[in-house]
Amino acid sequence: MSISFRKEIKDLVAYKPGKPIEDVKREYGLTDVIKLASNENPLGASPKVKEALKKVMDEFALYPDGNCTELKNAISKKFNVQPTQVLPSAGSDEMVDMIAKTFVNHGDEIIMADITFPRYIATTKMMGGIPVIVPLKNWTYDLDGILEKITPKTKIIWLCNPNNPTGTMVTENEILNFLKKVPSNVIVIYDEAYNEYVTRDDYPKNSVNLLKDYSNLIILKTFSKMYGLASLRVGYTISSEEIIANINKIRCPFDVNRFAQAAALAALQDEDFVKKCYELNKQGKEYLYSEFDKMGFEYPKSETNHIFVNVEQDAQQVFLELQKRGMIIRPMMGTWIRVSIGTMEQNKLFIEKLKEVLKK
Ligand SMILES: Cc1ncc(COP(=O)(O)O)c(C=O)c1O
Repeated sequence: MSISFRKEIKDLVAYKPGKPIEDVKREYGLTDVIKLASNENPLGASPKVKEALKKVMDEFALYPDGNCTELKNAISKKFNVQPTQVLPSAGSDEMVDMIAKTFVNHGDEIIMADITFPRYIATTKMMGGIPVIVPLKNWTYDLDGILEKITPKTKIIWLCNPNNPTGTMVTENEILNFLKKVPSNVIVIYDEAYNEYVTRDDYPKNSVNLLKDYSNLIILKTFSKMYGLASLRVGYTISSEEIIANINKIRCPFDVNRFAQAAALAALQDEDFVKKCYELNKQGKEYLYSEFDKMGFEYPKSETNHIFVNVEQDAQQVFLELQKRGMIIRPMMGTWIRVSIGTMEQNKLFIEKLKEVLKK
């Protein structure tokens, strides 16, 4: 007799993360490797985070505060909501998973874009939901196309703004018009993993304000990108008290560890660091645009810390050749790659290596 797995699991594929630096060093015998593959912060985290971590360094034998009380209070203060409307999680990855477990019944239709963050589709399938795919238009979310797909079976709509991997965004007016047309029993998830990098002023300024009018809205945020805490796994969600209380029922106890909580609290208190990272990213983006322009490459304008660009050669091959040279990027599809914006030194090195690979 053989063991059996849930049928929803059988066809799933495991998430393939950006290749770790350690693997590339080992495989190619390299000592210097730069990773521009997972949209991490090239400046790391605020010095205040390091100080906060030192203070809790000797406390790893103790379970963390399972309620994340201090962190919840700090977030609720920042966004002017009740602490009961906030739920920290082990990265927003864990929240994407918990949302699927909380809401998706077998046969529910879950609307999402293509191409977008791949965990939306994976967690939908995991729960036996039916992914309803709406292709991007000009590499941007097609909100009218999404509205057309709503049926009585629709349970969730996933929005990623700005979008990973294309870096494109939809405007405040577009979001407002969209939300007005979505039935109130359909959950709208608004994933703002990259909002701190947005430079355009028609981006939704304060998505949390929308919660006053839309109790079906769930806002996802993370400390992994601008705040540089990717390794510690901490993100948070803001929504109605009812939604938060229900997601909280299926949360693993102690999901946000002591170090993550201390680091996140300290990170929130360093706005100067955020400004510095924002400026660096903007400068790096302009530099990469200008180099891509010289090479005649197509790319949608990005409001994130990564650029989706058509390098006009097989992306997988370009990825492998760059890797041999100690540079990790993300091959996406066909001749399109995604590159995270690094320090100016890293960006320049990336362009140098890319030119070398493309000439080959
Ligand atoms: C759009 C989006 N949402 C969520 C995540 C998950 O981030 P984390 O789990 O590190 O908070 C990512 C990570 O790349 C992302 O790009």
